[in-house]
Amino acid sequence: MTTTPQYVTEFGADALGNAARDHLWMHFTRHSGYYEGGHVPVIVRGEGPYIWDDRGKRYFDGLAGLFVVQIGHGRRELAQASARQAEELAFFPLWSYAHPRAIELAERLAGYAPGDLNRVFFTTGGGEAVESAWKLAKQYFKLTGKPTKHKVISRSVAYHGTPQGALSITGIPSAKIPFEPLVPGGRKVPNTNFYRAPLEFRQDEKAFGLWAADRIAEAIEFEGPDSVAAVFLEPVQNSGGCFPPPPGYLERVREICDQYDVLFVADETICAFGRIGDMFAMNRFGVTPDILTCAKGLTSGYAPLGAMIVSDRLFEPYKHGSNSFLHGYTWGGHPVAAAVALANLDIFEREGINEHVVANEGAFRRTLEKLSDLPIVGDIRGAGFFYGIELVKDKATRETFNDDECERLLRGFLSKALFDNGLYCRADDRGDPVVQLAPPLICGQAEFDEMEQILRATLTEAWSVL
Ligand SMILES: Cc1ncc(COP(=O)(O)O)c(C=O)c1O
Repeated sequence: MTTTPQYVTEFGADALGNAARDHLWMHFTRHSGYYEGGHVPVIVRGEGPYIWDDRGKRYFDGLAGLFVVQIGHGRRELAQASARQAEELAFFPLWSYAHPRAIELAERLAGYAPGDLNRVFFTTGGGEAVESAWKLAKQYFKLTGKPTKHKVISRSVAYHGTPQGALSITGIPSAKIPFEPLVPGGRKVPNTNFYRAPLEFRQDEKAFGLWAADRIAEAIEFEGPDSVAAVFLEPVQNSGGCFPPPPGYLERVREICDQYDVLFVADETICAFGRIGDMFAMNRFGVTPDILTCAKGLTSGYAPLGAMIVSDRLFEPYKHGSNSFLHGYTWGGHPVAAAVALANLDIFEREGINEHVVANEGAFRRTLEKLSDLPIVGDIRGAGFFYGIELVKDKATRETFNDDECERLLRGFLSKALFDNGLYCRADDRGDPVVQLAPPLICGQAEFDEMEQILRATLTEAWSVL
């Protein structure tokens, strides 16, 4: 569907794209292509699961923006919640003062969170929430008589954000190398990519999960339990292409953390708010962490907001004397963002968004699994409305692409071809090459079919251009 927007008729088709090329610094972006004839994709409008570019072309939003727009684009109710709050109280900080929306939202999030995670510290996004969690872990142990506990353990290829602490926790060497030296004390352990499990575990997911969890215990022992403060992991790891936890894995991580008095931080920046069919994925998996970090879907992207939610035990030292968590953000818990989050959660409840994901996740999986007949599709994995499709050169041996092939396949062809064919999603090679899919949570069979058809046509073409 193509309609010509007014600014195109007034200023010419490339006016916005050219201004972007000349003045806007896009994130994690190679800008060279835009100086070599490429056009900056400019997205101007959204409605439901669709977005439109500055030339009036429509695309299916197969990534919910960036794992964010859970309830779909163009929801007037959230725009109105935002306007109402801006009129009533546009801004006030949470530095020693409170405002009604932050209070209401904190109480509500505590109600959704597992176990006794009752204390909510607001940030503006996921990286800040992760950063806050590491700082809290360090200070908590200093306040409770274990001042040497400061290191963190996280998993290979995992992404946890860009602040220097969060980047230390991140397990993607290429994202870290330009900024070394980072915060010391970040140790990496294997992730739960069952498709790439050591050969002896390929037939037994549970045994693989226990092996992977035990690598955490091994790392704690190696570093010295007195030096390790926390383990950070996503319930379903995004980077690398959707690694769900094998059966028993999260339970074993919980046991290990208890055994060594190490905090279990579940980074739910992506997994929370319906992505896995519950407000928090850890509820669905039945394991209670000590700290939970979240952002993205909390507002469905209608305002920036993140949060760190912590257990009563971790807040205890801050109830007494002169102790305070010496940390904060001007915009953390912004009244407009908090009002939008509350309205977003109202929609979750009213429209049964989590129930919809649970009822439709099987259909989503089955539809994507149709692609497994393609020679380039090695593995299709994920949970809820959160999937990765791993691409391989040889299905039988699981041989992956080398760096040059990845460059040609993902950057040279796939990302652009998928978009040109009307599907916004992500071809990613931070681990083995994958296509990542996380559509808005309002999608059903018709939208799953649309994604499958575009993927089928584009992946078939990709194989032929290799
Ligand atoms: C698991 C995880 N943690 C942290 C972050 C960083 O979040 P933000 O970009 O909001 O800082 C992300 C972003 O995608 C993420 O996926």
